[in-house]
Amino acid sequence: MMEPINVVVTGAAGQIAYSLLYQLAVGSVFGPEQPVNLRLLDIKLMMDVLQGVVMELEDLALPLLREILPTADAAVAFKDADAAFLIGSMPRKQGMERKDLLTANVNIFKDQGEALDKFARKDVKVLVVGNPANTNALICSHYAPSIPKENFSAMTRLDQNRAQALVASRLGVQVDQIKNVIIWGNHSSTQYPDATYATVNLSKTGEGVISVPQAVNDNEWLNDEFVSTIQKRGASVIAARKMSSAMSAAKAAGDHMRDWFTGTKDGQWVSMGVVSDGSYGIPKGIVFSFPVTIKNKKFSIVQGLEINDFSRSKLNITAEELMEESEEARQVLKP
Ligand code: NAI
Repeated sequence: MMEPINVVVTGAAGQIAYSLLYQLAVGSVFGPEQPVNLRLLDIKLMMDVLQGVVMELEDLALPLLREILPTADAAVAFKDADAAFLIGSMPRKQGMERKDLLTANVNIFKDQGEALDKFARKDVKVLVVGNPANTNALICSHYAPSIPKENFSAMTRLDQNRAQALVASRLGVQVDQIKNVIIWGNHSSTQYPDATYATVNLSKTGEGVISVPQAVNDNEWLNDEFVSTIQKRGASVIAARKMSSAMSAAKAAGDHMRDWFTGTKDGQWVSMGVVSDGSYGIPKGIVFSFPVTIKNKKFSIVQGLEINDFSRSKLNITAEELMEESEEARQVLKP
């Protein structure tokens, strides 16, 4: 039997964590042979609620789930962490300015970066889900200088899953027949969902694997309705459910971390918010969602995709927003 790994979930008493924890405990993220110790971090006020989550985890009676440690102390939670899902953050409340939200969250991710730096393993993989996810990941990495920048990422997998599902539904095929839809940029309404290089397997109809733009045969839909539907999908879920996406966000977080640990399949890429190395002319240093492939727990940004004028204008908009966010965060954190 393998040694257990230490997996941190912050915001552990919240709704995304509630859906994610079962996936971690049952083995669908780290594999059916990999035991896990769960370190559950939330704020002091939520410790009673968290105790209820712990009881439910115990009652799952799952053999891969070893220790369960609920805590409000980041030093305890991040000790020897192998993987961390940073979900906990301050939600936007009515009347709250964007700046207030950024101030609250930037400070949370500064503290957690420092705790990761001190207590986690140096090869820890950190996935930031809490919004504004890209900028939170940037801050967190900045305050954890002893951990490589490549070990921090922000989640845009939910957007990728949404885009893949929408294309599949448009073409009337199963979702797993669609590959390589890209999410570029920020996990916000400026993101650019891009199906230019996506493919669909139409072997059932004898057409084989063809490009999505060819199969859809409607560039106006791809450049307009497809993009705006995905950009606004989170808001549509909130409008209907009165709460933000949770089940689908948890599934996406599991997908992201599983691929990071086990790698992507040949010829397939996934989207992750990672520190830009200047690829595709994106300013270095911001956390930007790119298509990546993953091998031996290391991602590589897919290179050489041609970016047409339409895509370039979309990439510029989302990169500018991220530059502004990171500047605002810097102002907040100024000593
Ligand atoms: P929630 O409000 O149900 O849970 C958040 C939990 O975080 C609460 O239990 C809260 O006490 C805890 N928390 C707050 N500050 C904390 C801190 N300093 N340390 C540890 N825990 C802390 O929220 P939900 O629905 O689980 O969403 C969490 C975050 O994920 C939100 O920021 C949301 O906007 C974001 N999100 C991101 C998505 C993405 O695709 N990147 C998709 C959906 C949501």
